[in-house]
Amino acid sequence: MTDAPAEDRLASLAAELRAECAAEIDSRMVGHFNDRPWLRQAFLKVPREHFVPDQVWWPTPRDDGMHHVIDRHERPRAWLKGVYRPRASLITQVADGRVLPEDGPTDAPFTSAVSCSAVVVDMLHYLDPGPDDTALEIGTGSGYSTALLAYRVRPENLVTIEIDEQLADRARHTLASFGLYPAVLAADGEFGDPAHAPYTRIISTAAVREIPQAWLDQAAPGAILVTPLYGPFGHDALLRLTADGQGGGEGRLVTGVAFMKMRGQRADRSFAELGWPTVDGPWPAYADADYRVTVGGGRQQVRIC
Ligand SMILES: C[S@@+](CC[C@H](N)C(=O)[O-])C[C@H]1O[C@@H](n2cnc3c(N)ncnc32)[C@H](O)[C@@H]1O
Repeated sequence: MTDAPAEDRLASLAAELRAECAAEIDSRMVGHFNDRPWLRQAFLKVPREHFVPDQVWWPTPRDDGMHHVIDRHERPRAWLKGVYRPRASLITQVADGRVLPEDGPTDAPFTSAVSCSAVVVDMLHYLDPGPDDTALEIGTGSGYSTALLAYRVRPENLVTIEIDEQLADRARHTLASFGLYPAVLAADGEFGDPAHAPYTRIISTAAVREIPQAWLDQAAPGAILVTPLYGPFGHDALLRLTADGQGGGEGRLVTGVAFMKMRGQRADRSFAELGWPTVDGPWPAYADADYRVTVGGGRQQVRIC
């Protein structure tokens, strides 16, 4: 039996924490709410906690290197505070689902998460979708970022692809519970979705080593593509690229992020093969260098300008 007054108290705590989280994102330069009022409104409207499973792994390991499980039923307030920590992602799947929360703390690799709210806001800021855009999202996960997008882009013009069928089903169901009905496809997002192309906005929430050609082939001229690009920095870089509508495009690395890899791009490859230059000494910080990425003719190239 549910304890209705306790659930009400948690719902009002959730609303308070959501507002605090938005204020904290606002106070940071990287938050980027300020010139995207729709994004702040969507953030305040979408109850992130409804997208987070009852049991999640905490992203920061304990001293023994293991990630512990936070259970909503055992520690509802701690779980909720975790949901609204702007810089914390919540791990929802490890080892492609072969390890379960009931197995306890784990050091198995993360394979799905509800991304940090500050990073979701950053990515949607750079994507800058408008109400008339046709958008493709790769990596639905919980459906949380899909929900924010669906408050800006018409759901009938929004396609989201998740490779894990169970995650796709759960996200579809959660989105529908808020009356949001984008196309949620259980498929390999590296191939995009030609049926609904061309897209004017493409966003990936899984990191790639190499931009899949299908995304550029399905991009309209001038389309914006935002994706974490794995690089030699020890973390991923967020790439914002403008497509030429002919299978190519050019863009810049705008900030550092950390994402799990696209399933088909987990295997290591040399940076030279992926078009990265060589540098003498450490890689310059994003603030000190203009990292330009060009894609075309089946090849990507990174230059430091
Ligand atoms: C960081 S998580 C998703 C975050 C999501 N936006 C959220 O806030 O819940 C990345 C997701 O990409 C999915 N993924 C990995 N490779 C994929 C692929 N080839 N096609 C589609 N989804 C993929 C993973 O299963 C995972 O759910």
